[in-house]
Amino acid sequence: MSGFPVVRMRRLRQNRTIRDMLTEVTLEPRHLILPLFVCPGEGVRAPVPSFPGVSHWSADMLREVVEPAIQSGVRAFLLFGLPTYKDEDGTSAFDDGQPVQRALRFLRESYPDAVLIADACMCEYTSHGHCGCLSPDGSVDNDATLELLSKVAVSQAKAGAHVIAPSDMMDGRVGAIRAALDGEGFSGIGIMSYAAKQASAFYGPFRDAAGSSPGFGDRKGYQLPCSNPREIVRDALMDADEGADILIVKPAVPYLDIAAKLRARTDLPLAGYVVSGEYMLLHSAIASGSLERARGLLEYHTAVRRAGCGLVITYFATELAGLLG
Ligand code: PBG
Repeated sequence: MSGFPVVRMRRLRQNRTIRDMLTEVTLEPRHLILPLFVCPGEGVRAPVPSFPGVSHWSADMLREVVEPAIQSGVRAFLLFGLPTYKDEDGTSAFDDGQPVQRALRFLRESYPDAVLIADACMCEYTSHGHCGCLSPDGSVDNDATLELLSKVAVSQAKAGAHVIAPSDMMDGRVGAIRAALDGEGFSGIGIMSYAAKQASAFYGPFRDAAGSSPGFGDRKGYQLPCSNPREIVRDALMDADEGADILIVKPAVPYLDIAAKLRARTDLPLAGYVVSGEYMLLHSAIASGSLERARGLLEYHTAVRRAGCGLVITYFATELAGLLG
């Protein structure tokens, strides 16, 4: 009695109301996190040519992008920064006068209900563009980088971040950041780690926007190999063991299998990051007329939720929230 013609699945889809009633997975504005690129100066809103729809904002101008987001229902923001100077060790990442720290203070004061997440990585701040400082042999020095990242996290927490999001992919960074935050009295500040962050070709527009391309080599010595699902899951679960509060899967849709695997292995909240290259895929398909804008965006981002991600980080956050409103 378990098959056709006794069972007819279409009974459950016979009209819009019954389909609505049976909806299993939803995408809602409260699930969305909007990334922002903050730059030095005042009165700056500079569109990024290779990343249409995305701009650099000076802290004082952030209202122009944050206000419409909040009006649509977006409540969380992920901050990236363009510093005024770069050096070998990326020390501007923990300089209190730099754009991320300034933006955090501004947003914390102006939008007390917003959740502020600060990306903690060295690549925007190092002269060589790698996600950590270098050993004499030119490789990224894991343990020395942990000390830098710890300073970044503490500086961001002091400036008002609610959550620190380390994206460097060094071993042990979550534990090191947790210890540093706790040691400075920030035990209430969360860590959303880029736990399953692949060495991906889909970060191109972001690296233009963040000015963070590696000056030599690539990031394969620290980011994860897309071919190795067991290694990816194992590495991500280490972040959970070290005290991460939320795990990120990134890119999102090409790696939904990873999200589903992690969903089965941990009860931590997951976030899927629809990265800049995914944004451009969607943007180009829409621009060429081959993808219907609203339906395409909703389907794409709902898939991230279906795979098990409670949260979705996306440059489309404001638009999506408007569609869902
Ligand atoms: C920095 C970082 C990257 C992204 C977020 N944080 C790029 C990289 O690893 O080079 C990519 C985000 C995107 O493409 O939207 N480590």
